[in-house]
Amino acid sequence: SKNSNEFKLNAYLDSIKDCMECSLGKSRNKIVLGMGDPNADIVFVGEAPGKEEDIQGLPFVGRSGKLLDKMLEAIDLSRKKVYILNVLKCRPPENRDPLPSEIEKCEKYLKKQLEIINPKLVVSLGRISAMTLLKTKESLKDLREQKLSYEGIDFLVTYHPAALLRNPNLKKYAWEDFKLIRDNYING
Ligand code: URA
Repeated sequence: SKNSNEFKLNAYLDSIKDCMECSLGKSRNKIVLGMGDPNADIVFVGEAPGKEEDIQGLPFVGRSGKLLDKMLEAIDLSRKKVYILNVLKCRPPENRDPLPSEIEKCEKYLKKQLEIINPKLVVSLGRISAMTLLKTKESLKDLREQKLSYEGIDFLVTYHPAALLRNPNLKKYAWEDFKLIRDNYING
């Protein structure tokens, strides 16, 4: 039921919030576990917390997050109606790429969160979460065009908002992806 889902997710997050399994546990300010509706139909998965996320303890609250909010708004969603999380729960120093060893330790948390939320659709923002969950090495460009699935859940790969900020020419592709989400997974 709805309430038991929320209870289960909160209890689970509480059990992992003091994680010290890798060295990022020592350098983090706040752990960033996720936010949104524990009963969401759609879950967005980013890469790792950045500076602002590490300060606030919330995912996608910096520049990338502002763009993500605009994109959600454009398809009549908000971060209250979806769930947003990352592959890594702690910020890598200087925002360097996550190490394979860090992903290996952290991926069980992501998988358990998805198991509890059990959404209709997982959206990978960038290729890191697709690599992690689907064990693929394909490029984002190739992954984007495919109908993928993870544990029976539809899985879609789109550009990371940071990539769209760096290269606004890619926004038209992300907009196609978001329209697909709107037309197939909202009020459906
Ligand atoms: N980029 C990410 O991948 N995740 C965040 O939470 C913020 C920026």
